[in-house]
Amino acid sequence: MTVALDVARYRDPSWYERERATVWSDEWLMFCAESEVATTGAYVSADMAGFPLVVARRPDGGLVAFVNVCPHRAGPILWPGEGTTGNLVCRYHGWAFDWRGELVSARDFGDSADLCPDSRSLRLIDVDTWSGMVFVRLSPAGPSLEHSLGGLPAVVARHSVDRFRFVRRMTRTLACNWKTYVDNYLEGYHVQLIHPSLSRALDMRTYRVSVPEDGYCHHTCDTTEGSPSGGAWLFRYPNLALNIYADGMNVERIIPVDVDTTRVVYDYYSTSDDPTLIDGMLEMSNVVLDEDQRMCEQVQRGIDSGSYRPGPLSDKHEIAVAWFQDRLRNEVR
Ligand code: FES
Ligand SMILES: [Fe+2]
Repeated sequence: MTVALDVARYRDPSWYERERATVWSDEWLMFCAESEVATTGAYVSADMAGFPLVVARRPDGGLVAFVNVCPHRAGPILWPGEGTTGNLVCRYHGWAFDWRGELVSARDFGDSADLCPDSRSLRLIDVDTWSGMVFVRLSPAGPSLEHSLGGLPAVVARHSVDRFRFVRRMTRTLACNWKTYVDNYLEGYHVQLIHPSLSRALDMRTYRVSVPEDGYCHHTCDTTEGSPSGGAWLFRYPNLALNIYADGMNVERIIPVDVDTTRVVYDYYSTSDDPTLIDGMLEMSNVVLDEDQRMCEQVQRGIDSGSYRPGPLSDKHEIAVAWFQDRLRNEVR
């Protein structure tokens, strides 16, 4: 019998630090939408598992990604948020960097001739795109994004997601560890119990979850007659979920804030620009997300209570949870 992950991994800051040094450094992470950095100088500056990161569009048309920590005394090059910038100048004392991250001038520093190479450049990180999404990776070595996506692009292509246009963004901050959120995402065992409206819209007898070996998990379910909710739910380790329906899509970006806080950004896409239809889609989605959030936060309290030992995972319903947790056991030691 497979048993769930140890409690300490969901609440102990030292486990969280180990995850930051492995999962959140070595994997390709979904960081933002490509449309947010479409024009020259457009940038997104945001934290990901405690790493302040920036992705920006260079004047030559390419993307640059760097750790938003100045080599002088750790000031920010760009304040958190989105915008457009003409240059990369540290907000603290004004050191200026070019678009390759090299120091151009150390403002009024005095003698800067002896600065060591590490103080002369921003820490650039890998950046690549797939299907309108920008991914980053902190560790300089490892497989390309294309290789690491494995069979996922072929599955997504079957749903012709280029039909959809971005319509709305919502953000939630949940009082739980990021894995509590992902565990919940990865099983449909709870649907009948906590999602009454979703459960009426889905024919749960057709619910299937498969776990291929190359880093993503695929759930499908048919709708009951006349309901718009059926589709595919895809999770790509460690921080991307794609919920694809007949007439729209919700792209989830899962962002650990600290060991017991998780931010999730939900980008909604639709075939329609009719505000009534879009409002309806968001309203339905919010009902389900409220139900999941309430449960995840309560589960985290259960985990934190000191009175829970890891329980058994169902071979029938929780194989994707087992797959996710196994991957963490192997990657984070
Ligand atoms: S911290 Fe960046 S210039 Fe001082
Ligand atoms: Fe749920």
